[in-house]
Amino acid sequence: MKLQTNSKGLQGTLKILGDKSISHRSIMFASIAEGASEIHNFLRAKDCLSTLNAFKALGGKIKDTGDVIYVYGTGFQGLKKPSAPLDMGNSGTTTRLLSGILAGCNFEVTLFGDESLSKRPMNRVMLPLREMGVAGHGVHDTEFLPLTIYGTKNLKPINYQMPVASAQVKSALLFAALQAQGESVILEKEATRNHTEEMTQQFGGEIAVCGKELRLTGPQMLKGQKIVVPGDISSAAFFMVAGLIVPNSKITLKNVGLNKTRTGIIDVIKAMGGKITIAPYKDQRTGNITVETSELKATAVGGEITPQLIDELPIIALLATQAQGVTVIKDAEELKVKETNRIDAVTCELQKLGADITPTDDGLVIRGKTKLHGGKVTSAGDHRIGMMLQTAALLVQGGQVELERSEAINISFPTFFESLAKLEV
Ligand code: S3P
Repeated sequence: MKLQTNSKGLQGTLKILGDKSISHRSIMFASIAEGASEIHNFLRAKDCLSTLNAFKALGGKIKDTGDVIYVYGTGFQGLKKPSAPLDMGNSGTTTRLLSGILAGCNFEVTLFGDESLSKRPMNRVMLPLREMGVAGHGVHDTEFLPLTIYGTKNLKPINYQMPVASAQVKSALLFAALQAQGESVILEKEATRNHTEEMTQQFGGEIAVCGKELRLTGPQMLKGQKIVVPGDISSAAFFMVAGLIVPNSKITLKNVGLNKTRTGIIDVIKAMGGKITIAPYKDQRTGNITVETSELKATAVGGEITPQLIDELPIIALLATQAQGVTVIKDAEELKVKETNRIDAVTCELQKLGADITPTDDGLVIRGKTKLHGGKVTSAGDHRIGMMLQTAALLVQGGQVELERSEAINISFPTFFESLAKLEV
């Protein structure tokens, strides 16, 4: 599709859609808990619908009124063998977290997904799950989807030092640990998003968190809850950056989740001299974020902040093209195993628009400030690459940006283009 270019400015307010990570987990926790749960502000995007449909196929009693989703959970033991392999679509979160849930179910299930998901590594979850007693293998004995999992009622607890910083792996192991007999201890490489820990507690479970060490004794029974999903800071990020780099802009993003393990992008924007204000609501979990057009300077991104902004790195790379100086992003090798290899995809697509950007083994080096020009680019099937490129296109004067595979944006933000149109002056 032809993208909107040369924006005259973005003004106004936008309510941000529900958080993707929390929407997935809300269906999962509600399904494995006992009793009724209700989920408000669920993200109706392709990825989260993969989770919803998977739990329906596992026998979940789920009533979707379009506004609220009601789930009548009957515990882990209420899950039933599905009649066919489960379609994970594009969703790594569904696949990996579900693997941890299926670990304790006494039946065989096969998970399959789209082309991108079928190339993503699953040994990071299957190796520790095997230690807990699960059998399973990917297609032709590789680690890749289609993945068949044979759960067991006799899951062993695990003592595991994680080799990668991954909330998906951590969460899979916590779901398995909730079903195992005894205490599991998980040591994170770096602290990653803590939604699974928070929701375990919200659903009445017990988990001890001491820095990067987590302790959970199973088996545990969880109880149904009411969940209100906060807005997704990872979706808000595209508009935060647009508001900072498009001339004549000032926008307020409402209902943004402010969980401390997700707000790394705010720190980066502040370090770059961006004009940003955060106004938390009474609950302190959500708030308004206001940004306006700013003169930006380069910064360094790396170390323990990386997992707190891992999904925002493509849009941070674009931000850096509009900052004076050299921005270095490091410790981000995980970008290579996202929906695309995001180090390569960001480099290749932004270079087509004139950015000065060099890939490294674990990140990117970006020299700014550069004027971007038109070109033919592709999301390569990656939603965040697609949204980053539309944000870049807003800066292009006197040229056209054509985006191939723009439909990938529906994976996490089905109303992205409408939201942008609302802010146009
Ligand atoms: C997610 C964790 C992150 C993130 C993904 C969502 C989650 O993945 O990139 O979009 O909901 O747990 P990793 O665990 O692979 O880093």
